[in-house]
Amino acid sequence: MILNRKCDSHSAEEPAVGRRLIFPLAPGPIHDITPSAMIRKATIRDVKAIHALLQRYGAKGELLPRPLSRLYDHLRDFRVCEDRSTGQMIGCCALQFCWEDLAEIRSLAVHPEFRGRKIGAALVAEALAEAESFRIKKVFTLTYRPGFFQKLGFRLIDRSELPLKIWSDCMACVKFPNCDENALIIDLASSPDDQDIPPKTDQV
Ligand SMILES: CC(C)(COP(=O)(O)OP(=O)(O)OC[C@H]1O[C@@H](n2cnc3c(N)ncnc32)[C@H](O)[C@@H]1OP(=O)(O)O)[C@@H](O)C(=O)NCCC(=O)NCCS
Repeated sequence: MILNRKCDSHSAEEPAVGRRLIFPLAPGPIHDITPSAMIRKATIRDVKAIHALLQRYGAKGELLPRPLSRLYDHLRDFRVCEDRSTGQMIGCCALQFCWEDLAEIRSLAVHPEFRGRKIGAALVAEALAEAESFRIKKVFTLTYRPGFFQKLGFRLIDRSELPLKIWSDCMACVKFPNCDENALIIDLASSPDDQDIPPKTDQV
């Protein structure tokens, strides 16, 4: 395992399915996840490598590839994991806002040589931390890897529970209308701002 950050604190407990249970991270520009790997916001120089990684898995039907033009459009959604020793981009993940309380995790991929080292989990943790910082309450994903996301606290839902807006993207998908991805969602921790505000009263 290359991830230093301990995330065992929840493993002995009954998993709270559908609630966030992976290690929390403050959103920030750069996080070291090992001495040799860091997660950072993507830059324009990462686009071709992200495209190649998504194509690689897309060709095997493991995720939906995205055209280069869409990656440029959505570059600010992306974080990447970089191997510090080589400068190689070894993982990516996008967080796309959908609605006032909802965001989506998309285009999650870890280079085959680096799988199984908690990089995927760390990329998802970063995306959730960023979503929380924007006061997003729920994050969903459409994926062929439901088991991975369930391990991180997501719960399976019926796709019809998602807002109509996401179907505009789906209609552009090669698989539409025969989508075979699984929909999963996670509730994020509520912030103090979300606490019930006591009703105003005229009494003083
Ligand atoms: C799915 C993927 C992102 C996981 O990344 P990773 O870095 O290999 O996964 P991690 O090491 O972070 O795994 C975290 C945990 O999830 C588990 N896990 C990983 N892949 C899993 C899967 N397909 N099903 C169930 N559990 C899985 C790991 O065993 C690990 O569990 P542990 O904490 O008990 O050890 C990666 O395998 C990948 O890029 N796959 C191809 C693209 C893809 O399928 N993307 C999914 C989004 S569409």
